[in-house]
Amino acid sequence: MRAVDKIIIIGKLLLFLLCLVPLMLLLWDAFQQQLGANPVEALLHRSGDWSIRLLLITLAISPLRKLTGRGWPLRYRRMLGLFAFFYALLHFTVYLWLDRGLSWREISVDIIERPYITLGFVAFLILLALAVTSTRGMMRRLGKHWTALHQWVYAAGLFGVIHFLWLVKTDYREPVLYMAIFIILMLFRARSFKKRLQRAFALYSGKVDRRGFTPSRS
Ligand code: HEM
Repeated sequence: MRAVDKIIIIGKLLLFLLCLVPLMLLLWDAFQQQLGANPVEALLHRSGDWSIRLLLITLAISPLRKLTGRGWPLRYRRMLGLFAFFYALLHFTVYLWLDRGLSWREISVDIIERPYITLGFVAFLILLALAVTSTRGMMRRLGKHWTALHQWVYAAGLFGVIHFLWLVKTDYREPVLYMAIFIILMLFRARSFKKRLQRAFALYSGKVDRRGFTPSRS
């Protein structure tokens, strides 16, 4: 095995453990009965927070690869996306089971009549479809449709952020920050903005001079 492959595997292991930290802290606080006056709300909020954070980090991987010109960030994208789904699944389970007591009538009324729940639900369904089709086998089977399907991750990000913006009543700082991050990531996808940033990064790291030429190393 090449040294670089070993580093990637160790990196994946560390990232896996890091992504489990919010869950461990949540379980720890639950067992210590330190979730505050409303434990169900705390579980709902913390799982939702980590789902949207990990989703935005997943969306940042492709711009990061383009900025640095290195392919390694892509090796971690699937794991980050799957953890975003994992926390969304936890969030949904807490809502279904602890918040709504598996009352399917209440749940369907919520999904149909409360727009922020509808958006969260749609975001969840998209993440579910992406998680199920995230394997190499599915990638092969779906061919070019796989790429088209996985573009929906941006819609999941947008719906997740709007879901958050919609439900807050007083302190808008966190959802507004996430919306700003989402918009910056989307702007990055626009070609001109991407090129300008790439050039600025190359200039900053000394890879090219102001005219776009690579400086000679004498
Ligand atoms: C499966 C469908 C979903 C349902 C039914 C749902 C429902 C909820 C509910 C009831 C709340 C708490 C509202 C309140 O306290 O007033 C909430 C909060 C939240 N949800 Fe969802 N949600 C869903 C999917 C998602 C997804 C997919 C994401 C992320 C991508 C997400 C991110 C959040 C965030 C960030 C919060 C706020 C956390 C905070 O206040 O700190 N939700 N959701």
